[in-house]
Amino acid sequence: MPTQHRVILGSSQQMSELADGSVQLMITSPPYPMIEMWDDLFAGADPKIAELWRKLKAGGGEETVAQIYDAMHGYLGEVWRETFRVLIDGGIACINIGDATRRLNGKFKLFPNHARVTEICEKIGFTALPYILWKKPTNKPSYKGKGAFLGSGFLPPNAYVTLDCEFILLFRKGNLRKFPPHDPKRYGSAFTKPQRDEWFSQIWTLKGTRQTLGELERRTAAFPDEIAERLIRMFSIEGDTVLDPFLGSGTTVKAAMQNGRNSVGYELDPNLLSIINQKTANPGKGVDVQIIKR
Ligand SMILES: C[S@@+](CC[C@H](N)C(=O)[O-])C[C@H]1O[C@@H](n2cnc3c(N)ncnc32)[C@H](O)[C@@H]1O
Repeated sequence: MPTQHRVILGSSQQMSELADGSVQLMITSPPYPMIEMWDDLFAGADPKIAELWRKLKAGGGEETVAQIYDAMHGYLGEVWRETFRVLIDGGIACINIGDATRRLNGKFKLFPNHARVTEICEKIGFTALPYILWKKPTNKPSYKGKGAFLGSGFLPPNAYVTLDCEFILLFRKGNLRKFPPHDPKRYGSAFTKPQRDEWFSQIWTLKGTRQTLGELERRTAAFPDEIAERLIRMFSIEGDTVLDPFLGSGTTVKAAMQNGRNSVGYELDPNLLSIINQKTANPGKGVDVQIIKR
């Protein structure tokens, strides 16, 4: 079946290219609030966040830390709201996000991003569904929020549990999706029993993706192809349209191409186009890719 794929270089805070109720599935991994590698992106995208960081450096205190965290989730929340608009009734949203730990203002603490995203999505109108924990075998234990688990890390009570899981949060818009009886596209998209048993268990142990395409790919913190593929096979049928509002290196579009789904991806950083092109090159017969620069 021919499929169509659009990569839109622009912000997904407004997805004016997409009509209400035109997408069946959203899969994404946003920049994670309070993870250092994304600080510049948040500050560059929202001057209020840049101003709050300046305030913190000038001695702002814990209240300022809380305001920065709120503002970062406010930024992502705009995209969750747009996603709600473009999803069909019964459409599913899958959000891969990790919590963060950080020492700010002299205090080490957890920023539970998964809880904040869940709260915001429920306020928007999504129904929260049981989620997946993606266990990455690579992260090292830490002591006092530092990388290595050194000598005193063996003494109670001041060592910290390592964040070696990320969340894949799952939400539904509205009611269960309806299909005609014996819909051939739905039945043609069935998974096997071993796939069902593995994919619908709560913990997925998968290595982080090997970033083989160089520094640019590392900068996107791409998720493994397998995550996008499983979610597509679990929550959409052939011919559906899959959206990724934080496309990064293009993993979701690639997985959609390989699984008979249409796709739309939004990416803010135009420098990533070369890597998106590499990931989505040679898609095969009947697969059409369009790059749209706003
Ligand atoms: C964690 S990365 C996504 C990685 C992706 N899952 C992959 O496999 O490559 C988040 C991406 O969101 C992009 N981004 C941030 N804000 C955005 C916005 N408002 N609209 C579109 N893209 C945005 C960033 O430039 C970054 O490339």
